[in-house]
Amino acid sequence: MEDVLGYQGRSVVVTGAASGMGQAAAQILVDLGAQVTALDIKPTTVPVARALQIDLRDRASIEEVVDAIDGPVDGLFSCAGLPGPPFSEWDTILVNFVGARHLAELLVPKMSAGSAISVISSSAAIGWQDHIKVITTLLETDGFDAAVEWLEANEKKWSWSGYAYSKYIIDAWVGWWYPELGRKGIRINCINPGPTETAMMPAFQDLMGKETVDDAIGPVGRYSRAEEQAWPLVCLGSPRLSYVGGTVLWTDGGWHGAMTMGRHNAQWADTAADQMAKKG
Ligand SMILES: NC(=O)c1ccc[n+]([C@@H]2O[C@H](COP(=O)([O-])OP(=O)(O)OC[C@H]3O[C@@H](n4cnc5c(N)ncnc54)[C@H](O)[C@@H]3O)[C@@H](O)[C@H]2O)c1
Repeated sequence: MEDVLGYQGRSVVVTGAASGMGQAAAQILVDLGAQVTALDIKPTTVPVARALQIDLRDRASIEEVVDAIDGPVDGLFSCAGLPGPPFSEWDTILVNFVGARHLAELLVPKMSAGSAISVISSSAAIGWQDHIKVITTLLETDGFDAAVEWLEANEKKWSWSGYAYSKYIIDAWVGWWYPELGRKGIRINCINPGPTETAMMPAFQDLMGKETVDDAIGPVGRYSRAEEQAWPLVCLGSPRLSYVGGTVLWTDGGWHGAMTMGRHNAQWADTAADQMAKKG
């Protein structure tokens, strides 16, 4: 079967295409024959059909970019993100959720049935269900400015970590929005990656310590590579996955499953990582 994932000639938008998982996703989508529009605050080296600069902290920048994108848009891959410190908690939650949502909502009118929105969340979203009640009030806000007002009014709820909270929100958002999008034939899903070797990793290790980050390694026994997150994301956005909607896919090397079943043991993970390292 040719064009297995059905991307040949599809028009897709990828945020965060300058680096890491977004860059890997953009490259895979180009290789699969998609017409890729790359959006990032930085330039991308991926040979995409079109690259536009966007600042997801800035409502006007998002709206300008959306105006410059002609439809139809068959897929949105929302990969841009900030890790928290050294960036402010405010910028982090703006980029990771408020700007990402504004862009997605403005692109939906350019999307037709069969399109999909695929978002990168994080395994840091573990336990997001405990926050559903509060997060629902944010999800009910209408647009960028209303979300900013909500964040200002509820700062104590999220400012302990703009990163973790933004990821709780994304996991909740996909389930919350799909019932509406599904009526238009548009799907939304997210992945929850575990620790991944990208430009963002040193910031996590500086903030939490390498040991804490390593404790989120699953039974697979190592960090993932950007491509290992990009592939599941690209698969989720494929028209072949037409019955998968509003869901969270844990791309964490088995960490969440092991945690859920009380089988997570950093000692085993270290041993597996050591074995992998010895094998080269
Ligand atoms: N690396 C990890 O261990 C890890 C783990 C779980 C989830 N994630 C998530 O994966 C996603 C991709 O991150 P990554 O690891 O590839 O990091 P990365 O730093 O390599 O890529 C992030 C991209 O977002 C872009 N970006 C930052 N601020 C922006 C803004 N204001 N406007 C537009 N673009 C902006 C950056 O320029 C960069 O290209 C993020 O959402 C991140 O939270 C990463």
